[in-house]
Amino acid sequence: MNAYLVGGCVRDKLLGVPVKDRDWVVTGSTVEDMLANDFSPVGKDFPVFLHPKTHEEYALARTERKSGVGYVGFTVHASPEVTLEEDLARRDLTINAMAETDSGDIIDPFNGQQDLKDRLLRHVSPAFIEDPVRVLRIARFAARFNFQIADETQVLIKQMVDGGELEHLVAERVWQELSKALQTPQPSIFFTSLRQVGALRVLFPEVDRLFGVPQVPKWHPEIDTGIHVMMVIDQAANLTEDITVRFASLCHDLGKGITPKHILPKHTGHEASSIDLTQRLCERLRVPKELTTFALKVAEFHTDVHLLFELPAERALQVMEGLDCFRRPERFEQFLLAGEADFRGRPGYETVEYPEKRVFAECYTKASEVNAHQFVEAGMKGEEIKTAMHTARIEVIDDILSQYRK
Ligand code: CTP
Repeated sequence: MNAYLVGGCVRDKLLGVPVKDRDWVVTGSTVEDMLANDFSPVGKDFPVFLHPKTHEEYALARTERKSGVGYVGFTVHASPEVTLEEDLARRDLTINAMAETDSGDIIDPFNGQQDLKDRLLRHVSPAFIEDPVRVLRIARFAARFNFQIADETQVLIKQMVDGGELEHLVAERVWQELSKALQTPQPSIFFTSLRQVGALRVLFPEVDRLFGVPQVPKWHPEIDTGIHVMMVIDQAANLTEDITVRFASLCHDLGKGITPKHILPKHTGHEASSIDLTQRLCERLRVPKELTTFALKVAEFHTDVHLLFELPAERALQVMEGLDCFRRPERFEQFLLAGEADFRGRPGYETVEYPEKRVFAECYTKASEVNAHQFVEAGMKGEEIKTAMHTARIEVIDDILSQYRK
């Protein structure tokens, strides 16, 4: 039996980036041999085992052929005769189809090393089309490494899109890839790569629709809303690793894709449709609850951060209460980061001062300092305390905001 390192770990090592998991392919072996050597079986569909000591994954070399619709329909063939090259040939991209021997030699039948140098994502064989999740993966790798999709692979993916292949993707896989893409340094590349191959309109139509909608001149230079949202998610990625903020940044303006043009110039007015589209997107992809709740709040309230110096104190307090941030202070921090990403997601605003964020934080700190204690001491009860706290909070917020109102 021979074991080779394969896939992502070989790629990442050659790129000089940290290796996450080390995966192995074994040739010349059988299930029985593996069990006899104390490997424990883990694969439900494929013969995959965990090493008795390192617990790394060892898969028997296999070939796969599509035999049905979606990704359930694969016929897997694993036997001691399957060669390493055959196993590498079933893989998605040339940069993921390399192996390393125990003496450190790279086995690279599809020129993955050259593609790594050229920063190109290229399919290994026409069998690429058999797994639609690869379309999402390739866009995610583009965002992770800032690579381009090779021309012939773009052609192939366009054929997959036109052939309706992406309709077989299940929600979990789409969300899995989207959430990983949002954790890359430049998530915009995930979306622009999908758009380049015509897949954005199928997978994320609400994002696709933003392209071609002009932004409001009052706040924005004359840019496209799609480009603005792309800049916002990259700014969010720059400001925080928190996927909650990054996902909310993606959704904050979704309504602008369907809001009538006569409403758009007022800047506000798209929030109701942004909330509605965010809700539907989250249901469709089964986005985790916490991320959904926060994205809905950002869709509802993000304009209020930018308008802070025009807001009545009541509204500023309403935003804080709406975010439930007196009970959950981290929510307010996340909200301000999403607001900052939105502000900075425009050409020329990347580094300028954004006093609204600092002042809103100050309002929040002062409002949080108002607590029930003093009102209880004054002999108040129940509803009376609630009303008194509300009034006191409005007063402290108003004191601050009045220094900034024009
Ligand atoms: N693979 C594939 N097609 C897929 C999924 C995986 O061909 N749809 C192959 C690729 O060779 C890939 C390997 O299986 O390198 C391991 O897959 P996975 O662990 O999902 O991805 P990695 O490439 O290791 O990337 P990541 O670092 O994101 O885990």
